[in-house]
Order: sequence, then C-alpha cells, then structure tokens
Amino acid sequence: MELRSLKNHGWVKFSHDPGILDWVNHVRPAAAKIAEDPENKALWLRHGKTWFVGVNALKNDKNGRLGWGPPLNGAVSKFIIEEHGEIALDCAQISVVYPGYPAFDGTDSEVAHKYRKDRCAAHVDGLRPEGSQRRRFIHEPHQYVLGLPLSSANIEASPMVIWEGSQHIIRAAFKSVLDQKPIEKWSKIDLTQVYHEARRKCFKQCKRISIIAKPGECYLVHRLALHGIAPWEHAASNSDRGRMVAYFRPQGDGNLINWLNGSY
Ligand SMILES: [Fe+2]
Repeated sequence: MELRSLKNHGWVKFSHDPGILDWVNHVRPAAAKIAEDPENKALWLRHGKTWFVGVNALKNDKNGRLGWGPPLNGAVSKFIIEEHGEIALDCAQISVVYPGYPAFDGTDSEVAHKYRKDRCAAHVDGLRPEGSQRRRFIHEPHQYVLGLPLSSANIEASPMVIWEGSQHIIRAAFKSVLDQKPIEKWSKIDLTQVYHEARRKCFKQCKRISIIAKPGECYLVHRLALHGIAPWEHAASNSDRGRMVAYFRPQGDGNLINWLNGSY
C-alpha cells in the first residue's frame, strides 16, 4: 500500500502513530529552542526572516534519538527498514516557515522570487546549482525525504507541495543522459537542460497537491519527486508561531544506481 503510493504518486502519508507522537513531543521543545537561538537565526533565516532553514540543526543519532528521548519508530520505520535496510538517519533539518513567506529581501533575483511565489520554488533535492549560471550537478543524493510535523497547521500555512507522479518524468529525463555514461562520471555531468525541460513537463502534466499532516503523522517523499513550499496565505492560523517540521534526508551508502532506479 505505502510502496504503491510512493511508486505511483511520489509520496505517502503515514497515519497517526503514538510512537511518532512521543518522538515529536520530545523533540519539539529542543527544535523551538534551536529556531529561537540568535546564532542560529543569523545563520538560517532567509527571505526577509520568513523561513528558518535549519539544515541538519537537530543533533539526533542515527535512530533519530535526541538525548535520552525515544528513537523514531512506528510503521514508517518498519517501511524504511524494508526498503532501505537498517535505519541510518542524518541530523534532521528543523524548518520553520513564518507568516508572509516568501518575503522579498533582495537576496533572490526578481525572477527567482517570482518562481518561489508562483511555483513554490519547485525543485528536486540532490541537484546543486553551481556558479553564477546555476548549472545543475548531482550533489548529496538521498534515499527519501521524511517529513515529521512538529506543529499543527492548516492548508494556508505554507504546506509542502508535490507534483504527483513527477518522479517518473524526472527519472526518465535523468536516465536519458546518465544511462549512457559510466557511473564514476555522473557527478560531473551537467544535468541543467534535461532537468529544466523535465520540470516544465511536470508543471504541465502533473497535479500539484499540498501535503497536510499533524504531529504524530508523517510523510515520505520520493527522492526524485518535484516539490516545494507554498507561499503563506493571509488566512492561515498559527500566525505568530510559524509552521515547524523536522525533515530527514539520509544519504545511505550513496549508491547512485539505487538513487536513479531503486525499488520505487
Ligand atoms: Fe527539497
């Protein structure tokens, strides 16, 4: 069921699990502290202070355990073990989106800001733009994105959005270039053009949906799925606290064949 959803739609939501809620209840105060710390704020606030990015900010162990807290468990852990073997999580990103996201502060170009607003800054993780021309190369490809909401939020509060089924289009585009090249050279291959073409195709052909989940629920996003963060709508609740999510993006053994093909 979960595997089918990931294969077909590029994401799957796991229903409420007491084990996940225990984890969230333990992590939430620490995450809030991280996002309020002045040094962290200076380092991670972007877009006119409307997004605290917090990459790898949570100092959890490979089982997701923070200090003496519980490891990450529940149905999602079982699924990850079945598909990827032993759990080996990275340090979680603590992402907090605030009302007004994305505010224009002059850091982005006008074009980039418009893309952020109109297209939710849609992207595929694991491709780093390099240089002033923002050429795209494979960089830190991961196994999946696991999102764990740390606060409640409604649909207007900048949800993650995903173009359903986009992983098929992105995979086919990458394979059209990478399958003809030896794997040792993959990270040096400029994927900019096929990536941009595939992204345009996803916008035309795939349905954009918003992922809404509560603390205790969680979701997995396919490593090749096109996704982004929607702008904050005025009517959103939770207005002063922001919407806080922990994201794991483990790289596993970095096997690029699995990244491109894999079991899903
Ligand atoms: Fe992303």
